[in-house]
Amino acid sequence: MKTRESLDQEAIRILRENDRGGFTVPTAGLYPFQWLWDAGFTALGWMRIDEARAWQELELLFQGQWDSGMLPHIVFHKPESSYFPGPERWGTHHTPPTSGITQPPVVASFVRWMLERAKDQALAEEKARTLYPRILAYHRWFKRERDPHNTGLMSTFHPWESGADNSPAWDEALARVPVDPHLPPYTRRDTSHVDPSQRPRQAEYDRYLSLLEIYKRAGYDQLRLHAECPFRVASLLIDCVLHRANRDLLWLSRHFGFGDEAEIEGWLRISGAAIEGLWDAEAGLYYNYDLVQGAPIRVGTNASFLPLYAGTASPERAERLARTLESWGHQVRYLVPSTDPAHPKYEPQRYWRGPVWAVVNRLVATGFLEYGHLALAERLRRDTRELAELSGFSEYYHPTSGAGLGGRNFSWTAAMWLDWAAEGADGG
Ligand code: GLC
Repeated sequence: MKTRESLDQEAIRILRENDRGGFTVPTAGLYPFQWLWDAGFTALGWMRIDEARAWQELELLFQGQWDSGMLPHIVFHKPESSYFPGPERWGTHHTPPTSGITQPPVVASFVRWMLERAKDQALAEEKARTLYPRILAYHRWFKRERDPHNTGLMSTFHPWESGADNSPAWDEALARVPVDPHLPPYTRRDTSHVDPSQRPRQAEYDRYLSLLEIYKRAGYDQLRLHAECPFRVASLLIDCVLHRANRDLLWLSRHFGFGDEAEIEGWLRISGAAIEGLWDAEAGLYYNYDLVQGAPIRVGTNASFLPLYAGTASPERAERLARTLESWGHQVRYLVPSTDPAHPKYEPQRYWRGPVWAVVNRLVATGFLEYGHLALAERLRRDTRELAELSGFSEYYHPTSGAGLGGRNFSWTAAMWLDWAAEGADGG
């Protein structure tokens, strides 16, 4: 088992080694560009090392922002051949090149946290004020183009947008996506970096790429995609993270005197009620929702607890969620498995189908903490800390053995150590 001090140093080394000059790659080889929500978590880690560098992470992320306000899930700042699908396959014609979908919009919340904790307050005020209008444009894009009928839930058009790419929650919706008979040939790169038993299967990959062809044919016109995209779900990761982000945007608007409160409060009223509509009393958790079928997706995931992070749940529902999570905790050694361990589709070592992610643990723990479930919040932190002590900074971990899985030397896991999980370790 590694000591706090050696892990602190290792985490700092990982961020520095993954730094490509202002942006941080999640891990060399497997993910050699800048990813949206990774950049948010990684910025929190950088705050513990170098505050100016932390703000720069977000500034570079926004270089990828589209005129529409959309913030893409990957910014291809520099060419790299070790990843597929790269900029040519996305064909989005942006400079710098980007993907054409988004990811959980953590940025507003993390900007607020960074501003509240910064030692260099003058710098933080200046950076947050400059980022604010760009974040507002991003959130307006969500509302305008992903919720045109004002239901309070955003349409998510690709499993990759949810951040939980390969979750069994998306299986049925993805299976309905026809494989494009003219799908241009391709070679996967992920399975050359990571054991295929820890990565998505080929049938899923063909569908992921078929969706890209649909977006290109629609010219990335989001309003068209509501009619033409066969994969349309409401994802708890997107909706809860966005709800929280809007609460924090509201706070930022007040803080800076921007005067956008009425607009943001209007969004919050509708999204709060819509998220609560995803509650399942019998299961004691929240479900994602299939917008094509008009039905809940009955697979419990680590996102099923995120209405606590959003802050929309009642104390009674929070209590019930705590009991659900405790029952999961009796079935695995380390919380939170990405899929309900009693579900038939639970696979403890395959990408988003069972393993534990430090970043989701952080969001779930924040939710439990804010609802006063301190012991459970502390258990999540302790489990995350012990996983790092046992297996270093992996992309994800086996919920029973604690083995490190997926990519190694992973930026957002290292960042979560520095920012959160290390507290309480020996000498810490
Ligand atoms: C995988 C994850 C996604 C993450 C990316 C980079 O695609 O599913 O959530 O952003 O890796 O770490």
